[in-house]
Amino acid sequence: MPSPPHEESPIPPTIEWMGDHIRLIDQRRLPDELVLVEVHSIEKLCELIFALAIRGAPALGAAGAMGVALASLQGRELGGVASLLKATRPTAVNLAWGVDRARAAADPVAEAVRIAAHDVAVNQAIGAHGTAVVPDKSRVLTHCNTGSLACVGWGTALRVIRSSHEAGRRPSVWVDETRPVLQGARLTAWELQQLGIPATLVVDSMAGSLMAAGEVDLAIVGADRIAANGDVANKIGTYSLAVLARHHDIPFYVAAPTSTIDPATAAGSDIVVEQRPGTEVVEVGGVRLAPEGMAAQNWAFDVTPAELVTGYITEEGVSDRIR
Ligand code: MRU
Repeated sequence: MPSPPHEESPIPPTIEWMGDHIRLIDQRRLPDELVLVEVHSIEKLCELIFALAIRGAPALGAAGAMGVALASLQGRELGGVASLLKATRPTAVNLAWGVDRARAAADPVAEAVRIAAHDVAVNQAIGAHGTAVVPDKSRVLTHCNTGSLACVGWGTALRVIRSSHEAGRRPSVWVDETRPVLQGARLTAWELQQLGIPATLVVDSMAGSLMAAGEVDLAIVGADRIAANGDVANKIGTYSLAVLARHHDIPFYVAAPTSTIDPATAAGSDIVVEQRPGTEVVEVGGVRLAPEGMAAQNWAFDVTPAELVTGYITEEGVSDRIR
């Protein structure tokens, strides 16, 4: 059973179930090339997830579920496959969520297809609710990539901006480049261009000056895991933005599906932050900039305390707390 057709969008689905294998966009090749990869094995899927060919919490949820679906068709032992998949990216709770959902289902294939379709519907609801927090002509700062590419389609924080644009609110976007691997510069910039939404790329360290200059009306980011107390793990640099936003009295919103809320994690201090290879810091686009042999620390995510979050935008609405 193939995935249901994708609603009209200039950006194709990030990941699709093809009946007996998975097809996904190789995000490492963007913005230069839109390349689709056919995935026939769990080992290949794990390699692609670790290498960030597919990334973004909701997209990882679908990838995890489809991985289990693939393994079930191939008659593999699902416990081992689930562990392999979950180990690739420990912070994004949607990955484990998707794996567990498909594993618990009587029909893992049907469940994976359902999760993918549900992701699109959820994101449309996030966009519709989120428009309420974006006043006319807002200058919105965002971080990392939370668009169609980070999900099966449509996006979370970027979907809120897109919905506001489609509603005629004329938002413009400050796009943080998002070091070290530049999801903002490569992916968010590309998506916003495809959508015709006015956007300007800035280095991450410019956010404070932009806020001080009165150039930012609100910030909207995504999440990789939201603890039960509302603390938010998201791409490294998010915490600094939240502190800056509070200092400058700028609203700071987190947009995410409820599947990103992890009731089993009490607080941000319990979240395991993925540590990625130092080469991502030492190099830019595969070119080494730091001296050979330079040590580098690469925490992929940080944790923003709930007290710095103005509101959470989920498919259920906008709330100032996690219930
Ligand atoms: O390392 P990545 O690119 O997977 O990190 C992605 C993010 O931090 C996103 O902000 C988050 O997953 C939300 S995506 C809708």
